[in-house]
Amino acid sequence: MTSDIRNIVILTGAGVSAESGVATFRGPGGLWEGHRVEDVCTPQALAHDPELVHRFYDERRAKLATVAPNAAHRALARLDAEWPGALLLVTQNVDDLHERAGSQRLVHMHGELRSALCAACGNRVGWEDSLPPESECPHCGTPALRPDIVFFGEMPYHMDQVERALAEADLFVSIGTSGAVYPAAGFVQTARHHRAATLELNLDPSEGSLWFGESRMGRAGALVPAWVEEMLAGG
Ligand code: APR
Repeated sequence: MTSDIRNIVILTGAGVSAESGVATFRGPGGLWEGHRVEDVCTPQALAHDPELVHRFYDERRAKLATVAPNAAHRALARLDAEWPGALLLVTQNVDDLHERAGSQRLVHMHGELRSALCAACGNRVGWEDSLPPESECPHCGTPALRPDIVFFGEMPYHMDQVERALAEADLFVSIGTSGAVYPAAGFVQTARHHRAATLELNLDPSEGSLWFGESRMGRAGALVPAWVEEMLAGG
């Protein structure tokens, strides 16, 4: 599988953090079971009820202190450290578990809980605690800090870098995502267009499963370490 693979792009979703106790979005107990996307994850929601939106992310940011990376995050960090070719880990997740496990070649395409974005000047600032609406931006002084989260209808981050990496990829691996949200859900198509091999590691079949050259079903905590071992052994 790996002899002719040098450049890898990995996409992760909420399923990679599920075994750390971080809620997924869809499925039993998912975040979208308890909240309507329209109420907490759109620019309109932020304008309509900033208290509710800020509180939704404050609760998720506070939870980060109670969770830790799992075996899947640690295995991906090992691959990051030991893989000699190009590697880009693109996460849809806004938690910091990949960083805490040690991944460095990493981008967050949907933003990060531990960051605040100024709606006035566009600068970011690390943020650990609750973020009340109209908090003052340390860069421009405007009371316009918001959660640094990409809301539905907004442009994901780092897309140029991701598209370039996909164009050069020999292997695209999707881990723990339902394939319900674009552009991430389309990455497998882009990878196939560029003749990359494609692999899905997921608990359940996803909306994109039929596009993958290979799909392995199971828990990320078991599948990802085994896959990383295989890659590093040149299997
Ligand atoms: N191991 C592997 N996969 C798992 C595990 C696990 N332990 N637990 C759940 N999964 C899988 C589920 O089968 C599902 O396919 O993870 C996926 C989670 O899907 P979603 O809850 O839809 O999360 P995600 O795909 O990351 O959502 C994408 O949607 O709401 C937006 O911005 C939000 O980034 C998010 C995007």
